[in-house]
Formats: sequence, structure tokens, C-alpha cells
Amino acid sequence: MTAPAPRLLAFAGALRQGSYNRRLIHVLADGARTAGAQVTLIELRDYPLPVYDGDIEAAGMPDAVRALQQLMREHDGLLISTPEYNGSMPALVKNTLDWISRPTADGRSGVALFQDKVAGIVSASPGPLGGLRSLLVLRDALAKLGLIVVPQQVAVGQAADKLTDYGVLNDDRMKTNVHGVAAAVVRHVTMRVGVAA
Ligand SMILES: Cc1cc2nc3c(=O)[nH]c(=O)nc-3n(C[C@H](O)[C@H](O)[C@H](O)COP(=O)(O)O)c2cc1C
Repeated sequence: MTAPAPRLLAFAGALRQGSYNRRLIHVLADGARTAGAQVTLIELRDYPLPVYDGDIEAAGMPDAVRALQQLMREHDGLLISTPEYNGSMPALVKNTLDWISRPTADGRSGVALFQDKVAGIVSASPGPLGGLRSLLVLRDALAKLGLIVVPQQVAVGQAADKLTDYGVLNDDRMKTNVHGVAAAVVRHVTMRVGVAA
């Protein structure tokens, strides 16, 4: 019996037109598809959320949270491309993860939606370090939510020269490495399914 294809949810932690990370997430998603995954690539602009506020939650969970929780439920792992803001991950990424971690409509733990799932992370920046420091912070935050973050990661520096369009990475070595992140996620999901079966 063949195992089902790993299902991965992919997003960039950026909203702007021309975002390097919105371009890079396509490279990561392509790598995952090549490695055998089914990828759902979403734009966070389609899931607008206020900054987390317990009063908003108490008044009624935003629809976007419920939609993101459902997506998380349906997928085996995450692919994220994040910018670096002042040496850390953008508030957009943390805020999205925080809202998803809140209790689900049936009163279960939102954190459990992440538990034992697998994540692959990359970053892009016009600077020389490519947003590397945001990866360290994001890795830690994802691990705290219970995800297994694969050790492979890529920070694409000088992104203006390298990420000239969606899914285009003009650096063969880096492209191979980004695809390596995706392949590692697929491998880990497949191994875990194998163990659980
Ligand atoms: C508030 C803010 C802080 C930033 N801090 C950093 C930083 O610490 N390191 C870095 O490499 N780039 C930093 N940048 C520049 C971003 O890397 C750059 O805007 C990048 O294009 C954002 O990603 P995007 O192209 O996907 O939107 C910062 C940008 C903003 C708006």
C-alpha cells in the first residue's frame, strides 16, 4: 500500500506586492511538490487578522482564525518563508501562529493542531545575512508549538538580485538548498506516517 502524499501548508510572512519572501515561498513549495508533497500555498493577506486581543477573541473568534485552524488540521506540516524585522520574525508571523494556537471551535487546544507536525523554514532579505536571525527566532517559536523543524534552512541574502519573480531563484546552489529543505520536510513527514501506521 502506498502512503498518501504529505500535505503541506505554505505561506510567506509578508504581505507587500513584490515581497521577496512571497517569491521565495514558491521555490520552497515547488521543491516540496517535486519531493512528492501536496502543497497548499496561501497568502496571509487573504486571512486578515487583528493583533491578538483577548477581548476580540471573547467577542467571537475571527473567521480567518477558524479557517487557518482548519487548514492546519488538514495538513501534516508547514513551509514558511519569513522576512527579518529588527533581528526577529515579523509580528505578522507570530500573530498568525498565536491566533491559530487558540482553542478551536470544539473547545480543543489550538496548540495541538501543530503537535508533531513538521516544518521547513527559509528567509529572504536584501541584506547580506538574508534574514538568518529571523530563522533562529521562528525555529524556536515553532518548536515551542510542538513542531519538528528540520535542521536544513536557507537565508537568501541580496534578494533583489536573486529573487526576481515568483518561484525564481537565480542562484543554483541556493535553489538546491531550498529544495533540500522541502525534501527534508517530506522525508520527515513520510517517516512519521510510517512509524504511526
Ligand atoms: C520594520 C523593518 C525592520 C527590518 N529589519 C531588518 C533586519 O533586521 N534585517 C534585515 O535583513 N532586513 C530588515 N528589514 C528589511 C527587510 O528585509 C526588507 O524590507 C524585506 O524586503 C522584507 O521582506 P519582503 O521583501 O518579503 O517584504 C527590515 C524592514 C522593516 C520594514
